Amino acid sequence: MLVAERLTKTFASGNRTLTVLAEVSFAVDTGATCAIVGPSGSGKTTLLGLCAGLDRPTSGTVWLAGADLNALDEDARAALRAQHVGFIFQSFRLIPTLTALENVMVPLELQGERGAHDRAATLLDRVGLGDRLDHYPTQLSGGEQQRVAIARAFIHRPAILFADEPTGNLDDDTSHRIEDLLFELNREAGTALIVVTHDLELAARCERTIRLRGGRVVEEMGDSHWEMGAEASAA
Ligand SMILES: Nc1ncnc2c1ncn2[C@@H]1O[C@H](COP(=O)(O)OP(=O)(O)OP(=O)(O)O)[C@@H](O)[C@H]1O
Ligand SMILES: [Mg+2]
Repeated sequence: MLVAERLTKTFASGNRTLTVLAEVSFAVDTGATCAIVGPSGSGKTTLLGLCAGLDRPTSGTVWLAGADLNALDEDARAALRAQHVGFIFQSFRLIPTLTALENVMVPLELQGERGAHDRAATLLDRVGLGDRLDHYPTQLSGGEQQRVAIARAFIHRPAILFADEPTGNLDDDTSHRIEDLLFELNREAGTALIVVTHDLELAARCERTIRLRGGRVVEEMGDSHWEMGAEASAA
């Protein structure tokens, strides 16, 4: 579903070059779940943006849903995202002139699919906002806006969902409900999940965790770890 190969991202900063990501490689299978953790500024949001085709790497390759993103122009990448990718931004990025319901309908309407209204209403109900359909983003609390963003990311049944701190602004109860929803979607629809989080409990619910520090992968925990453990104990 996703293969990232030696992704490097640098920015020019005055007369110096700032390396934000250095040679990051990993792969995520169809239907798999993966957490990305690391301190503030370690490159998590940058990595998510590169993997989702929102931004281009300085060097390295991303294969997403069978396509080499480097080979696609901006329009082709947008089309690929519209079809296969859901993205929950750290800052939500709702459209201010649209109601909650209309915001959630956007990805499905972009694809010219019918039934957007009813499906959006159902999803907003599932995230606990059934009585906020006609509110505009400014009339919603931060956590409510986040839940609208989550419903919007689900609506077109993406094959892969990128979520940047999806529970960062929510209380414990709401966080758990949103987490359950993410993993339900993963189980029901086989949506691969890539979740950036500071919440170690949420990371532990994913099959693997990739830890970044200073733009590099410093640790990978998950299935292969367990296998190594099993081999070691069998030997
Ligand atoms: N457009 C840009 N130009 C210059 N530097 C940038 C740019 N975007 C990000 N950076 C730098 O890249 C580094 C990584 O940023 P990123 O947003 O990926 O971190 P993060 O791990 O998501 O942090 P947080 O947990 O705070 O969200 C930061 O030091 C940031 O200042
Ligand atoms: Mg970030």
